[in-house]
Amino acid sequence: MRILLLNGPNLNLLGRRAPEVYGSDTLEDVAEQCHAHAGRLGHRLEEFQSNHEGELIDAIHAARETADGIVFNPGAYSHTSYALHDAIEAVGIPTVEIHISNVREREPWRRISVTEPACVYQIFGRGVAGYLDAISHLHYRKVHPPVTLPYGPHPDQVADLRLADGPGPHPVAVLVHGGGWTDPYTRDLMDGAAVDLAARGTATWNVEYRRIPPVGGWRDSMADVSAAVGALSSISGDHGLDLDRVTVIGHSAGAQLGFFAAKNASVRPAGFVALAGMLDLGNAGSGFDEIISAFLGDGGHARLPVVDPIRALPSGVPTVAVHGLMDRSVAPDQSRRFVEAALAAGDRSRLVEVPEADHMDVISPLAAGWEEVARACLGI
Ligand code: DQA
Repeated sequence: MRILLLNGPNLNLLGRRAPEVYGSDTLEDVAEQCHAHAGRLGHRLEEFQSNHEGELIDAIHAARETADGIVFNPGAYSHTSYALHDAIEAVGIPTVEIHISNVREREPWRRISVTEPACVYQIFGRGVAGYLDAISHLHYRKVHPPVTLPYGPHPDQVADLRLADGPGPHPVAVLVHGGGWTDPYTRDLMDGAAVDLAARGTATWNVEYRRIPPVGGWRDSMADVSAAVGALSSISGDHGLDLDRVTVIGHSAGAQLGFFAAKNASVRPAGFVALAGMLDLGNAGSGFDEIISAFLGDGGHARLPVVDPIRALPSGVPTVAVHGLMDRSVAPDQSRRFVEAALAAGDRSRLVEVPEADHMDVISPLAAGWEEVARACLGI
């Protein structure tokens, strides 16, 4: 794949411009990281930056001959430029919009992107790492394009369906991404797992859900993931999905959501897999206080009995907790305590510790230890 890395106005000042918002990497640093990441995935990358709307439009037009995907940070033009929207739409090259900062938490005018509707995906608020995630997203879309289906009226109530090859009905892996229930982290985090599991014969249903808006999102997020699992019953016939072989797989904070969906959804899954799961919120450590309080809203800790997986056992479904022992983000102890408590409560449960994996490795087919994770996800 040939990828165009396109940056708009003022991004030439990266590293010097408001480093507290945009970080200290220069545009050259970003380009270097993007080249390396694209290279790792087997793609070529070219870059272009301009402060001029017309030049950006010309670059998008020229990309018809030279690129199969665009990673585009339109800068402030994303809030105003219908001409850039039209250019992206006109050439029809899959374009991922990226913003380094969390545009939803800044001035209200930054929340609006007029270019986003022409793009296949938008990533924001992840710092310059968002550029690499955008490249990964283009890569996994190319390997196995998803079909995005709504399961409710809200724009975040959608999920990506990827069918497996060969005659069905196929088992289904429901994927629930993590990211501390916060806005910037979305389902592209699970793209790699979704594509890999589909290639192993399991259809994947990679779920988006409403996240903290800005505090107390637990009710909406939990309701959405359960609804997304329940929605499988209305699409299973058309897509050859075997509802008796559904596994809910959640990563990090997504494991908290996945656990309750596995326990409560109208479609009863055959199993639940937590990957580096937040399974013991009450003992997550002080580093998580702020994020858990934001998720639970006022008086949140009183809600733990209904939102903390370890306090809501038994789940009534077989569970597997997979944890990388190099995880510096969510302590492997959370998985150990969960499995112990699940067994004590009468659930079938097992622990899979992956010595060489860190927090993000357990969702990356490119990482060491993935084979073990994939086998756990498939119930092997
Ligand atoms: C930006 C966000 C825009 O609102 C701003 O005008 C930029 C950079 C970002 O990367 O966060 O120039 O696109």
